[in-house]
Amino acid sequence: MKKYNIQFPRIKTGHLGQDEAFFYLQHNNKKEKILFHDYENIYKNQGLYEQLFYERLKCVSPKKVTDALKHVIDVNKDNFSEMRVLDFGAGNGMMGEEIKKTGVSRLVGVDIIGEAKIAADRDRPGTYDEYYVMDFTRLTNEDREAIRSWNLNTLTTVAALGFGDIPPLAFLEALNLINKEGWIAFNIKETFLSNADASGFSKLIKELLFSEYLYINHLERYRHRLSIEGVPLYYFSIICWKNTDVPDSFIKQYIA
Ligand SMILES: C[S@@+](CC[C@H](N)C(=O)[O-])C[C@H]1O[C@@H](n2cnc3c(N)ncnc32)[C@H](O)[C@@H]1O
Repeated sequence: MKKYNIQFPRIKTGHLGQDEAFFYLQHNNKKEKILFHDYENIYKNQGLYEQLFYERLKCVSPKKVTDALKHVIDVNKDNFSEMRVLDFGAGNGMMGEEIKKTGVSRLVGVDIIGEAKIAADRDRPGTYDEYYVMDFTRLTNEDREAIRSWNLNTLTTVAALGFGDIPPLAFLEALNLINKEGWIAFNIKETFLSNADASGFSKLIKELLFSEYLYINHLERYRHRLSIEGVPLYYFSIICWKNTDVPDSFIKQYIA
């Protein structure tokens, strides 16, 4: 696999927020500044996402969340062979690759950008049974029907919630597009569970986790990856049983 010349910026006082972080890519005789959230640009370069987040910054989340799900499935004597999974915020398929190894019955990916699907098809062909490029805050009835036709009973979302990525409304839509009952496996930055965080996303997660819609089966704090300053970023891996659909009355508060 091609190795890229990745350079990190000087460390000034304080540190960059996760959605402000960037790196320099030295290629074709030029130095290009790329934001961590510029996924279009990152996915276009095969192997760059893996080299940046997984090799250099030691991200472990796809494996960590999959292992947590495996544990819960084992404790509950459930079967991966009966799981039909929606991998939401699928990117170039890192989580898809992990979850596929468990022997799930179907795996459907969704991402908001076309470059993610192109990269998943290029880098991990055959991982997904279907991969949709859709914006879950603007779904048409046809989009919903297409997703529902897979009769999905598990939702996975890794490294994609908050920080300008998947917004609350889109996550709620995904929750309701899997069956009324099923497994939900995701991770979030630890601060989203703190009382000090008053962001919409934090409010949503705290309300959902202590609601009758989701039952927590597993909650574990772990080191998701390093920041560019080398500081550990802690996340929670969370596995819930979805007990029922989230009602419109709850969803309404997250419609802008
Ligand atoms: C950090 S990547 C994670 C990819 C993959 N899940 C992994 O673990 O490597 C975040 C992904 O979320 C996607 N994303 C951001 N906002 C989204 C949205 N509103 N709907 C669907 N996907 C979104 C991005 O395009 C990107 O591919």
